[in-house]
Amino acid sequence: MRLIVTKISVGLWAAAYIKNTVKQFAPALDKPFVLGLPTGSTVLDMYAILRTFAKERLLNFQHVITFNMDEYVGLPAGHPQSYHSYMRRNLFDHVNLLPEHIFMPNGQAQDLIQECTRYEEAMVQAGGIDLFIGGIGRNGHIAFNEPGTPFNSRTHVADLTPSTREANARFFQNDLTRVPRQAITVGIGTILDAKELLFIASGVTKAAAIAHLITQPVTPTWPLTALKLHPRATLLADLEACVLLSGDLKTQLDEAMEADPHAEQWVLSVEDKEPL
Ligand code: GLP
Repeated sequence: MRLIVTKISVGLWAAAYIKNTVKQFAPALDKPFVLGLPTGSTVLDMYAILRTFAKERLLNFQHVITFNMDEYVGLPAGHPQSYHSYMRRNLFDHVNLLPEHIFMPNGQAQDLIQECTRYEEAMVQAGGIDLFIGGIGRNGHIAFNEPGTPFNSRTHVADLTPSTREANARFFQNDLTRVPRQAITVGIGTILDAKELLFIASGVTKAAAIAHLITQPVTPTWPLTALKLHPRATLLADLEACVLLSGDLKTQLDEAMEADPHAEQWVLSVEDKEPL
């Protein structure tokens, strides 16, 4: 996999990448582009720029199908902190995505297991995910796949760890009792099935997770290390998220920055390690 360290905002980088990838794909009625989408604060800028692209007709969502990564269990879709609300606020209400092209797990389904199966089937029916965008949890989770989740997992109901609930309490008036305990999430196997992955990390709170991605062998203890198993995976990070880099990658970054200090980004290659 590659690590792209960018000096420009990760949001701008990611939005431009999505725009270019979708344009190059040239989606059509019989050939829709299937985009996997995350939530979280890291990608707020990315959505703001995607809205601008759509407004300025630089990006057309007409033949784009979206699948979100996850949704809390038990929160009504209209709750301001549900991922349904987040997505409406930040993207869906502002671009020309067709309602029938928007897929999100229903965290209020009567039968959650059946809902997970339905979600997996819908992705297959859409032809699979062309590009899955993701964020990174502080403990290295991807979507809501917490440490220990098997790499072959499919869409499932996940118990959120105390650290994830604490990290997300800021969205629930810092009241931990309001933070849902479970979520429906695509599995790590579901993510790895996508044709391409672009995961994004910004800020020092993600530095430990990024350092582990680089130094650890592929291990379920650090779910984001699964990215190293994918043939077309990119981790996009800002300089703050890279402050704990060490060893070979730190040397690679220092050398790249020294060679081209005015570059907007430096592309590093992360050596895959044998799974534990
Ligand atoms: C939640 C989401 C993840 C996201 C993570 C990071 O846990 N389920 O998909 O990557 O938050 O969020 P933030 O970008 O706010 O740090």
